[in-house]
Amino acid sequence: MVLLDGKKIAAEIKAEIAAEVARLLASGKRAPQLAAVLVGNDGASETYVSSKEKACREVGFLSQVWRLPAAISEADLLATVASLNADDAVDGFIVQLPLPEHIDGQKIIEAIAPAKDVDGFHPVNVGRMVIGLPAFVSATPAGIMDLLERYQIETSGKNCVVIGRSNIVGRPVANLLSQKAAPGDCTVTLCHSRTKNMKEICLQADIIIAALGIPEFLRGDMVREGAVVVDVGITRVPAANERGFRLQGDVKFGEVAPKCSYITPVPGGVGPMTIVSLMKNTLKAYLMENGECLLRHFPFSIKKICEI
Ligand code: GUN
Repeated sequence: MVLLDGKKIAAEIKAEIAAEVARLLASGKRAPQLAAVLVGNDGASETYVSSKEKACREVGFLSQVWRLPAAISEADLLATVASLNADDAVDGFIVQLPLPEHIDGQKIIEAIAPAKDVDGFHPVNVGRMVIGLPAFVSATPAGIMDLLERYQIETSGKNCVVIGRSNIVGRPVANLLSQKAAPGDCTVTLCHSRTKNMKEICLQADIIIAALGIPEFLRGDMVREGAVVVDVGITRVPAANERGFRLQGDVKFGEVAPKCSYITPVPGGVGPMTIVSLMKNTLKAYLMENGECLLRHFPFSIKKICEI
């Protein structure tokens, strides 16, 4: 069994992005800039946004965080989005989800200019991705695809089972894995809460992507020998440590890992890949805005950055 070390691969990709930023700065250009909008003070969202700021510093990006009160009106949040759309110094931005209940999250997502939508949540980007056109692909699915690629895991013709049909992970990753591409070319089954015979379906899988957000859902008896298992779960469960919680994946690791050819750990698997994918998308937004995506071939694996 080989651990798919997302922390290590993310560090490699970050170093490649940092080198690209150094090249931009050396040629007199400005650094790319990512902005994040954080509404309210949800603990998990605060942590995610801090991780994104840290990653920006590590790769040499500029970053800014707009901290807005939970009571902000939808109109004022839309005005913030409009000002970021219009700000030439901001290459891409995200509005951290979830948003308070009085705000229509979909309306906010659709207000983001598709060219700055580095989360890849805008219907224009989702639609383009689905039909294989250049698009911003959302960070977790993109990170999973990079991880499979970097470990040279064969996907062509494989049976892939995706568990979970969220717009952020399950649906897009199922689509990417089914595309005529490498990684891709899988026969994909998308399972969800109404799926019957989940165990039998999982036992047919060469590759399982567990993205349903139920801790330890995938048990050892649901996985066949030699399967590749990617665990997207990061549920906070109470723990007797400083933070009062630990992150628990969707996979019962102790049971599943011994059967796998490859498996991601939690933490240190998909999580770091997600953040680095956001950095890639921000660099891509910058390069597209500056006309460079059309001109350059990249000397590292993010050369595909302008093609996907
Ligand atoms: N909340 C949880 N994951 C994400 C993400 O990838 N992007 C945004 N904007 N909010 C999130």
